[in-house]
Amino acid sequence: MTAIRRLTLQNVRSYAALDQRFDGRSVVLTGPNGSGKTNLLEAISLLSPGRGLRSARLSDVRRQGADGFGVGVSLGTDADPDETRLSIRSAPPRPERREARVDGQPASGPGAFLDHVAMSWLTPAQDRLFVEGASERRRFLDRMTLTQDRAHAQASAAYEHAMRQRNAALTGPRSPDPRLLTVLETQMAESGVAVAAARRATAAALARGYEGLREGAFPGAEVALEGFLEEGLAIRAASDVEAEFQERLANGRRRDAEAGRALTGPHRSDLHVTHTDKAQPARLCSTGEQKALLIGLVLAGAAARRDQADVPLILLLDEVAAHLDQHRRAALSDILEQLGCQAFLTGTDAELFDAWGARAQAFAVSEGTLTERG
Ligand SMILES: Nc1ncnc2c1ncn2[C@@H]1O[C@H](COP(=O)(O)OP(=O)(O)OP(=O)(O)O)[C@@H](O)[C@H]1O
Ligand SMILES: [Mg+2]
Repeated sequence: MTAIRRLTLQNVRSYAALDQRFDGRSVVLTGPNGSGKTNLLEAISLLSPGRGLRSARLSDVRRQGADGFGVGVSLGTDADPDETRLSIRSAPPRPERREARVDGQPASGPGAFLDHVAMSWLTPAQDRLFVEGASERRRFLDRMTLTQDRAHAQASAAYEHAMRQRNAALTGPRSPDPRLLTVLETQMAESGVAVAAARRATAAALARGYEGLREGAFPGAEVALEGFLEEGLAIRAASDVEAEFQERLANGRRRDAEAGRALTGPHRSDLHVTHTDKAQPARLCSTGEQKALLIGLVLAGAAARRDQADVPLILLLDEVAAHLDQHRRAALSDILEQLGCQAFLTGTDAELFDAWGARAQAFAVSEGTLTERG
């Protein structure tokens, strides 16, 4: 199985230097508060598009006092543990830029890594996902969509780029050139419909993913998308939705100029999750139920993409076991095994991972060093 076989860190948060090999099984990291468990997961997450699992600035990721940092992973199999080497580096004079490399050759940003690895994660910061604003839920949905459809990265970037240029044109000191606005709005409509279509495909994939999961341990969820484009695509042809979006943008120029941003589009969409067994919206569910729903969604996402096994999916599950009772911990271990995904799991106590036994490689983390547990 292709998995992360080696991780190297230079000056990443609490890690001055780390060079750790893994044997391809899942990895369990345990250690006291502040020992560096989440930092390690975050470092891996920086090899996917975006700001990683803490949404942090690169200057915060860099170890205090250092002027740059580096993260590298080798992906491979038992036969060839160093098949592919992915790395990022941030260094002066552009410390907020990630310089990405694949097998030592410059690559155009971490988007290029999507051909080699997909990542999904859950952290305690997402515990309030269902009760807070739409933006975090949208981020969660888009990350899930990236694991199902690599082209989602390009469509999202193209949309954001055109939208930023339109915002700048509308709010600039000179009155905007209407021809330029039309070009940008055409780009927004085209890429926006692609973004919404990919999200819809993901919602459908999740429903299929649930069918592949062992029943019972994690609640089923129904995922509905709220958004002008997503809802439009459910009942109309994509070309019609695209034309309508473009018209809305053209008619909304004055309003958007006053607001300083585009008031409609897929950057405003939301994700509604329903706990199917209870027929209740996720936001009304208990804390533990919400956590179980989130885990279920991540697992369903992993199950839905099993036919894309050419690109391995890595799951980063920060402090997930602590929320689960013994029965659910055992179920999680079984499902991960069944999915064939390498997971990186953290927790303060090693006993939380008894159900994994020999299925995972276990390490004690202490002040930036890893020691394999015998
Ligand atoms: N940029 C940085 N440079 C140096 N140290 C940092 C930096 N950012 C965070 N740290 C330190 O990293 C340490 C470990 O953090 P981390 O979140 O990985 O711990 P953890 O093992 O996940 O703990 P917990 O069990 O509490 O979640 C913290 O003590 C923090 O102060
Ligand atoms: Mg932590």
